Amino acid sequence: MQNFITIEQIDSVTQAIKKQISIQPVVGIILGSGLNDLADSVQKAVRISYSDLPNFPVSTVHGHAGCFVIGELEGKPVLVMQGRIHYYEGYTMGQVTLPVRVMQRLGIPNLIVTNAAGGVHPDFEPGDVMLITDQLNLMGMSGLNPLMGPNLDEIGTRFPDMSRPYDPQYCDLARNIAKENKITLREGVYAGLSGPSFESPADLRFLRLAGADAVGMSTVPEVIIARHGNMRVLGLSGVSNKANLDGTTVTTHEEVIEAGKVITPKVEKIIRGVLRGL
Ligand code: HPA
Repeated sequence: MQNFITIEQIDSVTQAIKKQISIQPVVGIILGSGLNDLADSVQKAVRISYSDLPNFPVSTVHGHAGCFVIGELEGKPVLVMQGRIHYYEGYTMGQVTLPVRVMQRLGIPNLIVTNAAGGVHPDFEPGDVMLITDQLNLMGMSGLNPLMGPNLDEIGTRFPDMSRPYDPQYCDLARNIAKENKITLREGVYAGLSGPSFESPADLRFLRLAGADAVGMSTVPEVIIARHGNMRVLGLSGVSNKANLDGTTVTTHEEVIEAGKVITPKVEKIIRGVLRGL
């Protein structure tokens, strides 16, 4: 039996953050592996370490810093998560998604999620950026839905709709920004697995057959929680490696971090454009 996160726990974190900020963020941004740099260009930044917050999980992964950066990007008040929490670190689904709950209690209506992912679509190359148009909740299908446990009625309904996890208008906005900036923007379905082992060739062939274009170890639980509270979501995957469908190549965390260097400027341009367009 898991310990589920309560509204009191969420609000203790929310209050601790509120005490330290004087702006009302309108967009939450979660930065994925190797994509942390954007947080450094937040203006008028207030940084709050996860380790200074009550009941807050700490990111243990190399390539993930562990703090909220609250300030302005493109003139919009934002709350950026520099470093996310993953299920494979041993946290519960409630802990993994606590930051999104806190965003909701802070009154933030929009979420931008980014991640590093393996490219499952045969045309995707390392360095590509993919607009996430839909997701495969493989963790949920095996009983790991972050909404399990008592429903938080203050935030959303017991059985939330998931027909449009990613906001169609924000997808259009991202497509336009990419076009204006001459960035090739791939599109597709992100499959969320728990990790931390990368996929076997058979896993990957299964994912391709199931309709996945990219695969990673995050994002899906966060987006489910975001939609439970009716946040509007934009999702971007940086393709850090080509999925190894025939077993001829090896995937490493180092190449994920390396690819982040090529991906970051493109993701940053798209996020900045979307923020200007909001
Ligand atoms: N698989 C799962 N997660 C990932 C990958 C991958 O190939 N690349 C980056 N994150």
